[in-house]
Amino acid sequence: MTKIKNCTVLVTGGASGIGRLMGDMCLNNGAKQLVIWDINKDKLIETTRELRALHYTVHPFVVDVSDLGAIKLTADKVKSEVGPVDILINNAGIITGNQEFSQFSHEAVDRTMTINTNALMHITLEFLPDMIKNGKGHIVNISSAAGMLSNPGMSVYCASKWAVFGWSESIRIELEKKKTRVHVTTVNPSYINTGMFAGVKVNPALPLLKAEKLAAKVVRGIKSNRIFVRSPFMVKMLPFTKGALPVRCFDLIVGKWLGVYKSMDGFTGHPG
Ligand SMILES: NC(=O)c1ccc[n+]([C@@H]2O[C@H](COP(=O)([O-])OP(=O)(O)OC[C@H]3O[C@@H](n4cnc5c(N)ncnc54)[C@H](O)[C@@H]3O)[C@@H](O)[C@H]2O)c1
Repeated sequence: MTKIKNCTVLVTGGASGIGRLMGDMCLNNGAKQLVIWDINKDKLIETTRELRALHYTVHPFVVDVSDLGAIKLTADKVKSEVGPVDILINNAGIITGNQEFSQFSHEAVDRTMTINTNALMHITLEFLPDMIKNGKGHIVNISSAAGMLSNPGMSVYCASKWAVFGWSESIRIELEKKKTRVHVTTVNPSYINTGMFAGVKVNPALPLLKAEKLAAKVVRGIKSNRIFVRSPFMVKMLPFTKGALPVRCFDLIVGKWLGVYKSMDGFTGHPG
């Protein structure tokens, strides 16, 4: 079991969306202090003000996680000004639009992979050695259902989230093999009502998840050292259905009949 009480929690992309909710919930569960990294200064100021008004200890840092120099600099500041991080939630992520791969720019490929994949590894490298040394810690990596499933209109996003899944599971096994007592949870949700995927077509097999419920599941997952947090049920079943069905049957049933391969058709994403 990982105790949240009296811990220092760092959430990337913690100024809004599920990152904000997971941070709030960790504080509600008795975390000593919350470190928030986010690129959006206005949201960061607003979140910090709201949480401090509730007498929580919050340390906000404006940081673009696509910038390795900024990651290193901010991590050093956190370590010297705040202290060691006990729970790291690698949450910041982006999608650049509903685009066929041939329409992608090289810059959009790099930005997606840098923020959604590379940043998680670089940030973890900054905090994991101290966790190992201290004999405690928990790393949460937000992948996606798109990290277990391929989907038209989001090929680069899928690539970034599959990579997170593979890396996250590898470090979990490494850390367990070495009996470090540092735990890893990989999170694979389908669409969530944060606005990031506004406009997507959902259906009863793939309902729009409520951000509060998903965030609460992740926090429960931290407390109980869950290896995976997957939602909804269809996502839990993916390893089984993908393994059992021939690929053309999977395309037909999940892709066509359940409408997953059309889900990005109405995508608008966050306004602006
Ligand atoms: N919303 C969904 O349907 C959904 C589904 C599955 C997985 N996810 C994943 O969950 C995570 C959070 O998603 P969300 O829906 O809360 O998104 P969101 O867009 O509501 O919030 C993301 C937060 O990350 C911050 N951020 C973005 N780029 C950043 C950068 N370069 N540096 C620092 N901060 C940055 C944003 O400012 C924002 O506060 C993402 O990794 C996303 O891929 C989301």
